[in-house]
Amino acid sequence: MVSYIVAAAILVALYILTYYNFLKGARCRSDTCLRGKTVIVTGGNAGIGKETALDMARRGARVILACRNKERAEAAVFDIRKKSGNNQVIFMQLDLASLKSVRAFAENFLKSEPQLHVLINNAGIGMHGKTADGFNLVWGVNHLGHFLLTRLLLDRLKLSAPSRIVTVASTMYRFAKIDFSNLNPPGENFSQQMQNYCCSKLSNILFVRELANCLEGTNVTCYSLHPGAVKTDIFRTLKWWMKVFCIPVIALFFRSPVDGAQTSIYCAVQEGIEKFSGRYFADCKVEEVLPHARDDAVARKLWEVSERMVGLSS
Ligand SMILES: NC(=O)c1ccc[n+]([C@@H]2O[C@H](COP(=O)([O-])OP(=O)(O)OC[C@H]3O[C@@H](n4cnc5c(N)ncnc54)[C@H](OP(=O)(O)O)[C@@H]3O)[C@@H](O)[C@H]2O)c1
Ligand SMILES: *[C@@H]1O[C@H](CO)[C@@H](O)[C@H](O)[C@H]1NC(C)=O
Ligand SMILES: *[C@@H]1O[C@H](CO)[C@@H](O)[C@H](O)[C@H]1NC(C)=O
Repeated sequence: MVSYIVAAAILVALYILTYYNFLKGARCRSDTCLRGKTVIVTGGNAGIGKETALDMARRGARVILACRNKERAEAAVFDIRKKSGNNQVIFMQLDLASLKSVRAFAENFLKSEPQLHVLINNAGIGMHGKTADGFNLVWGVNHLGHFLLTRLLLDRLKLSAPSRIVTVASTMYRFAKIDFSNLNPPGENFSQQMQNYCCSKLSNILFVRELANCLEGTNVTCYSLHPGAVKTDIFRTLKWWMKVFCIPVIALFFRSPVDGAQTSIYCAVQEGIEKFSGRYFADCKVEEVLPHARDDAVARKLWEVSERMVGLSS
């Protein structure tokens, strides 16, 4: 009996040590104040995006939650205002699964907001489906929608410089390959859906890399990042038999949304990281990506293909 208790105590202690040393991740320690600054957070109503938006509001920023669902977004606006004591938190409709909605959002924003200092491309999805324009949902929302959004807001970011663009990617980029002959597969089975997700996240990283080149000399900088493995609703679409396995793993080993937001916050506010524009961050540190995620020829081609897909001509 005693030996069981000792064994259990050792396991708990090991778990706690592992959690705090490896799983929880680093905290953004910057105390940058954002009073007078305007920030957009896409998907700011839930998970990592909501915690990021709350942090920006606590720093005094004017925060635009760019979300697809009015009820969920307004509930988050209410919550964030209450917790931060900042009432400069507002909702603007944005459905990244529709290029028309992205254009309408940009038009609406540019008309009503004179400045933009931080754009946080956070929204993301892992679900099967199609966008209004016929792209697979994951590619359309995670990459194309944000690609168009960023491009449409770029002049306003330049006018407000110094300013930043932060894009939430994922370490899952490792398992992706960009196949230009089949960029937009429908995602018929689980393995193809996973491949689509990983590919959209690799595209986020390559987009940011190319974007940094275009932004050289403008005082607008951009960063991609991995938030860690985070307990959020993004896993709600798993099949029941996967949930049986995943729920305990997620409960034990994934970090909280507050901890998951730290690297987004870091990239948005940390002083002195401008020299790392175009790079990828994890746990509040710049990290070297694998060679396929720093292939400039692929990044350039992806940029051009994406321009054509969203109907932008340069
Ligand atoms: N959780 C993780 O372990 C993890 C790991 C690596 C990377 N990430 C990335 O982190 C980011 C945030 O994810 P999360 O974990 O916080 O997930 P989440 O809780 O599911 O939040 C995703 C957000 O994106 C929004 N969204 C989805 N489709 C949209 C659309 N068509 N238009 C506008 N907004 C849309 C969602 O809005 P609704 O509330 O309306 O659905 C929600 O606000 C994603 O880019 C994800 O890929 C997460
Ligand atoms: C999933 O679908 C793709 C394309 O339709 C196919 O090539 C692949 O073999 C399928 N994988 C599984 C595990 O069924
Ligand atoms: C960028 O910032 C530096 C330092 O504040 C400033 O000297 C320079 O004029 C700025 N450049 C542009 C293009 O705004």
